[in-house]
Amino acid sequence: MTSGTEAEHDAGPAADGPYLRMKGISKVYDNGVAANDGVDLAVQRGEIHGLVGENGAGKSTLMKVLYGLERPDQGQIVFRGQPVEIASARDAIALGIGMVHQHFMLVPSLTVAESVVLGREPRRGPFVDRRRAAADVGAAAKSYGLDVPPRAVIRDLSVGQRQRVEILKALYRGAELLILDEPTAVLTPQETDELFAALRGLVDDGLTIIFITHKLREVVEISDRVTVMRDGRTVSVRRTADVTRGDISRLMVGRDDLFEVSRTPHTIGEPRLRVRDLSAVSAQGRPVLRSVSLDVAAGEVYGIAGVEGNGQTELVEILTGLRPATAGSATVDGTPLLGRSPRRIRELGVAHIPEDRLGRGVASGASVVENLALDRYRDAPAAAGLRLRPKVLEARARELVERFAIRIRDPGAPVAALSGGNMQKVVIARELAEPPSLLVAAQPTRGVDIGAIEFIHAELLHLRDAGTAILLVSAELSEIRRLADRIAVLYEGELVGEFDDPDAVDDHELGLYMLGARRTEARA
Ligand SMILES: Nc1ncnc2c1ncn2[C@@H]1O[C@H](COP(=O)(O)OP(=O)(O)OP(=O)(O)O)[C@@H](O)[C@H]1O
Ligand SMILES: [Mg+2]
Repeated sequence: MTSGTEAEHDAGPAADGPYLRMKGISKVYDNGVAANDGVDLAVQRGEIHGLVGENGAGKSTLMKVLYGLERPDQGQIVFRGQPVEIASARDAIALGIGMVHQHFMLVPSLTVAESVVLGREPRRGPFVDRRRAAADVGAAAKSYGLDVPPRAVIRDLSVGQRQRVEILKALYRGAELLILDEPTAVLTPQETDELFAALRGLVDDGLTIIFITHKLREVVEISDRVTVMRDGRTVSVRRTADVTRGDISRLMVGRDDLFEVSRTPHTIGEPRLRVRDLSAVSAQGRPVLRSVSLDVAAGEVYGIAGVEGNGQTELVEILTGLRPATAGSATVDGTPLLGRSPRRIRELGVAHIPEDRLGRGVASGASVVENLALDRYRDAPAAAGLRLRPKVLEARARELVERFAIRIRDPGAPVAALSGGNMQKVVIARELAEPPSLLVAAQPTRGVDIGAIEFIHAELLHLRDAGTAILLVSAELSEIRRLADRIAVLYEGELVGEFDDPDAVDDHELGLYMLGARRTEARA
């Protein structure tokens, strides 16, 4: 019990050993990447254990091994004192291990109760006992502090509510050890506070939690101990009370020189993006954007805050040619955008960091080089006549890989083999490589590590200072705060507030706008 990293902390494993011990876990993927290289992890019963590390450090891989989604090449798992073989998620669930993935896996048309009991429905004779399911789920929701209406349909729920459903589902299946892979990446500050309150309650009731996050503020706030991974190994295990955020970040990146970017005041130019009375309806005919008007000027970051699902996605999709509007207009440098294809819009100098980077941003079967070149095939110097010049593309890809610190060995490898965060960086590198007229950036730092966040923020501000108009959509209030020259709030498809001086409004007040409890009547 006192060897290796274990010796670094004095959290005192119980005499009968930790609740969970993963020992010497190694996992080499088919492409030869050693995602886990002898990882050790020890988790005590009843603690919240933070798991941190840069993009590609091997966190998700380790948790997939624990949840039976990946088989390790080497290593041992001891759970509750017993060596265990976990060959599938079914095995993990049977042992009382639950996992909530960052991308939820709920069926939109089911109710909350149906989703939670799915596959374990209470029955009355041959029939599913829906009434009991709803009553059970309602009672569980209440007792766990994961408030969500059991009869509501998943489609109608906010992201925070959906996450509660995922957690309830894991608990309903008897999870005693709960793995949360970047659970707060999609939450508003209020929702994060609510989640933390619920997690504390669950821990008081005896649950053990492994919590992956890139937000060190959260590690410090919620975890009892933290394991830091770097390059597929465990580099440290600490009691959270004994370390600062700075300590953790140094352990993560193995160096000292993290910089903090900040906005410098400067004069903004003429409006480049003009949006007037823009409206749109969903596939079901529900209004999703209601007469939105805004301007974004050259050299300005215009930040749109709001709980996800309030029209942000639709606004971005309309401006980038991915979705039609039902009314209104939008121009960039005076040229109308609506009705044009994504490619034509791109040719007008509009770059787009899409929210759904894996779906829209990358061709996952194609190589990193190819992805970095997408949509640039036509531009000199990469194209000579109609023939592509692979050497030029590759040189450019290598430069971007370096400049954006994308962690890959071989730029010829498929994007699918990158970690979540590194896939994001491929898209971001491509879109930011040359300054556009307008950049539409949706959740630009979701899922990337702290070093990469600093870097992306610095790049965005650099573009702003170079005269790009930036429309920034982020669920991360701190990100909006840091970057935006002006802040607007979308609620139920409407701009309910616009603040020319971000410093004149505090987070609490913005939160009230985001939740629809307050609006600037003058805008109506
Ligand atoms: N299916 C896969 N095939 C091949 N290589 C993979 C696969 N999944 C992950 N990798 C590689 O394994 C390494 C670890 O990836 P992993 O997803 O575990 O990192 P992570 O710590 O969760 O990173 P992030 O913070 O970006 O989510 C990375 O180098 C990644 O490129
Ligand atoms: Mg991951």
